[in-house]
Amino acid sequence: MRLTVLGMGYLGITHAACMAELGHDVLGVEVDEDKLAKFAAGTLPIYEPGLEELYRKHIESGRLRVTASYEDAAEWGDVFFVAVGTPQKDGDFAADLRYVDAVIDSLVPLLRRDAVILGKSTVPVGTAHQLANRADELAKDVTVEVAWNPEFLREGSAVADTLRPDRLVVGVQPGGRAEAVAREVYAPLIAAGTPFLVTDPATAELVKVTANAFLATKISFINAVAEVCSAAGADVKAVANAVGLDARIGTAYLHPGLGFGGGCLPKDVRAFMARAGELGAADVLTFLREVDAINMGRRTRMVQLCREACGSLSGARVAVLGVAYKPDCDDVRDSPALNVAGQIQLQGATVTAYDPKAIENARNLFPTLRYADTAAEACEGADVVLVLTEWDEFLVLDPRDIGARVRRRAVIDGRMCLDKRQWTDAGWEYWI
Ligand code: UDX
Repeated sequence: MRLTVLGMGYLGITHAACMAELGHDVLGVEVDEDKLAKFAAGTLPIYEPGLEELYRKHIESGRLRVTASYEDAAEWGDVFFVAVGTPQKDGDFAADLRYVDAVIDSLVPLLRRDAVILGKSTVPVGTAHQLANRADELAKDVTVEVAWNPEFLREGSAVADTLRPDRLVVGVQPGGRAEAVAREVYAPLIAAGTPFLVTDPATAELVKVTANAFLATKISFINAVAEVCSAAGADVKAVANAVGLDARIGTAYLHPGLGFGGGCLPKDVRAFMARAGELGAADVLTFLREVDAINMGRRTRMVQLCREACGSLSGARVAVLGVAYKPDCDDVRDSPALNVAGQIQLQGATVTAYDPKAIENARNLFPTLRYADTAAEACEGADVVLVLTEWDEFLVLDPRDIGARVRRRAVIDGRMCLDKRQWTDAGWEYWI
């Protein structure tokens, strides 16, 4: 099939490369000049394990191309995937739909034959319906169907999540072609046994938002328990493990620590509350305010813990290991780690940060932090070492080696990922 993917960010690049891997001919559309320059140079504007290899493979196989031209896309494609961002609106909880709207406004007037648009971006319930109406107004003598096919991939495992998803969900209008088209696109995945769920568009939109709100709730739940454990002298990791072994609960998304960040969970929780408010159902989602507040409180607590560990932040030297919002990615959007590093710096400490992949992005967002080339360099002369993203390379750091570089052996395990015994045996004060 001839597929186009509109918006080549984390979601779009992954989807485009994976659809080429499934055997389709794919045209990615991106209008950002910096990203286009990277594509032209044969590299990707993001880091995602395994993605660059897959992208290159299909640039070479000829099944994947990237263009800036909506005209080319409209002329070429049969199916159009919308993969642009839906960030939080400035000064509001609601999602900013300007990029999704722009795709419809740019694409639909150019279509010269019937088309199916499958939205992948996370949108508030009701968006597909509105976009379908807009597409009807803009279409010139052609039928343009808008359906929603939410994406559940996680950064860091995006390729595997796309090629082996837990489920496929497609929200379609009755009587249209979208279901048949989606079945054809995903035929190899359906043949491999992936559940294929067909719903109306509003339900599909809500599946995605509900999933993210539930995951966020699970994380904040265990983080609230972490605070109680801390007050009671109990071990929250042991609690989470024991509770999670109950099959009804499960251990996933029950890792306590600095909380959730990134381009999805925080803004999706807020957009869900905002949309529920518009629908007159705000009251039932007030608990999500708590979920958000507990999450943000973890960042404040981490700054406080750092202050306690140093005595005073003013004049302290702080090493921050990890600035990405999670390991195996270079994304610093709403990163708890970078947020904490920034707050500590703004309160008078000198922060030197290191991250295996996210330094360039962090530097763009927070140029006033110092950045080191290695974890050991970041720890040089530090009064306290904060581990804020659980990259594998931090789990295997030698506390003796790092101990020889710091001014004081104090470590804060912000992601509860270190072997406490190993660090205390090497003479470190260990804080969580
Ligand atoms: C999330 C959803 O998982 C995915 O289905 C959706 O498509 C997009 O949003 P993502 O943001 O890529 O994916 O990462 P995820 O692995 O879900 O982690 C989100 C945040 O939660 C990270 O900051 C992570 O560190 C944090 N987290 C996750 C915890 O603090 N504890 C956990 O137990 C799990």
